[in-house]
Amino acid sequence: MSATVMEYPYSPGLENVPAGKSTISEIDSERSSLQYRGYDVHDLADHGSFEEVVYLLLLGALPNKTQLDGFKKQIASDIEVPTQIYDVLRALPKRVHPMDSIRTAYSALAPFDPDYDRPSTDIEADKRKAVRIVAKAGTMVANGWRIRSGRDPLQPRPELGLAGNFLYLLNGKEADAETTRVLDKTLTLYAEHGFNASTFANRVTVSTLSDLYSGVITGIGTLRGPLHGGANEEAVRMMLEIGSPAKAQAWIDDALATKKKIMGFGHREYKKGDSRAFYISPTAKEIARKKGKGEMAEIADVLEKTMLDRKNLYPNVDFPIGYMYYSLDIPIDLFTPIFVMARVAGYCAHAIEQLENNRLIRPTVIYEGARNLPYVPLSSR
Ligand SMILES: CC(C)(COP(=O)(O)OP(=O)(O)OC[C@H]1O[C@@H](n2cnc3c(N)ncnc32)[C@H](O)[C@@H]1OP(=O)(O)O)[C@@H](O)C(=O)NCCC(=O)NCCS
Repeated sequence: MSATVMEYPYSPGLENVPAGKSTISEIDSERSSLQYRGYDVHDLADHGSFEEVVYLLLLGALPNKTQLDGFKKQIASDIEVPTQIYDVLRALPKRVHPMDSIRTAYSALAPFDPDYDRPSTDIEADKRKAVRIVAKAGTMVANGWRIRSGRDPLQPRPELGLAGNFLYLLNGKEADAETTRVLDKTLTLYAEHGFNASTFANRVTVSTLSDLYSGVITGIGTLRGPLHGGANEEAVRMMLEIGSPAKAQAWIDDALATKKKIMGFGHREYKKGDSRAFYISPTAKEIARKKGKGEMAEIADVLEKTMLDRKNLYPNVDFPIGYMYYSLDIPIDLFTPIFVMARVAGYCAHAIEQLENNRLIRPTVIYEGARNLPYVPLSSR
């Protein structure tokens, strides 16, 4: 639904408005596909690791074995977090949402970066910062969670990989290979997605020649909302409210009759379904059944069928990932912060791309307010 005001086309929510050019990822909404730098995301999830995807996004090509080994070494040397960051996290009230913790952690982390004083136009320094930002994400999310639950942070274990390190820190013990692999796949799926709201917000921030950390913090603040990344948490809360497969049909009928938004369904770009959801749904259902949470898979079946039949809406990636993380016993509050762990790779790739060829992002607005009012002195109002 767009209107034309003067010579400017206007589209609410900037729907279908091209707001930049990029070589990082391509969404094909007709074919419901997603490619990172020309590679199908499902191929990357099936055959690659999250570390390879980070390399691809940040450096533009898939690494060979030597390059990947070197990159993993670099991540390993950047995975630890200064203890002062934990002191900051300890100072936050216990009710803090982990999205606010991770946003705060990145704020506090920025001045510890060895390249802090380099201008954001120094692309080589930006690339080093980007690796540090990605490497520390899981450590900060998991140890931030430990601190919030009154436990001490643990020493990261970089040899476990980014997914394995996160699960180790979260639970205080190594996760099994299947859980680690599944989390790694979801990190690949979450790593990048074009000009979504938070990536765009991140690009707006760095377009002022602000720094990568500020871009990431802007991105996290934008991702937090339930219309964006927060949907994975909200979708599971909704399924828990439904309670059982027997109640699912009546619940969704009532929700649609009362025009409720069904979290984890619909997408601005994909009107024929989100390929990432098609890809991960069977795994999510299999894991739910294996882990004794088969009712979640059954509730999902009812919601998916009804939403498609009645609203022609498909689940987005947050829907299956939500109940899959739940089935893996990951605390619900951590679902969106895990999304952050992955998406910081996309934010940094976009920030670098923006800074390599920067022009301040500053759109215009259609003013609709009053004009030329006479100023009335305070005493007469
Ligand atoms: C993602 C989302 C914000 C996209 O929004 P959008 O492109 O602006 O689409 P719209 O809100 O214009 O939706 C178009 C129509 O579908 C309906 N719709 C879209 N998503 C819906 C949902 N999840 N539940 C119920 N109805 C929905 C809208 O009410 C609207 O109906 P109408 O034309 O009768 O008013 C929206 O689908 C949504 O809020 N989904 C739930 C949150 C979510 O899962 N977010 C994660 C996205 S990855």
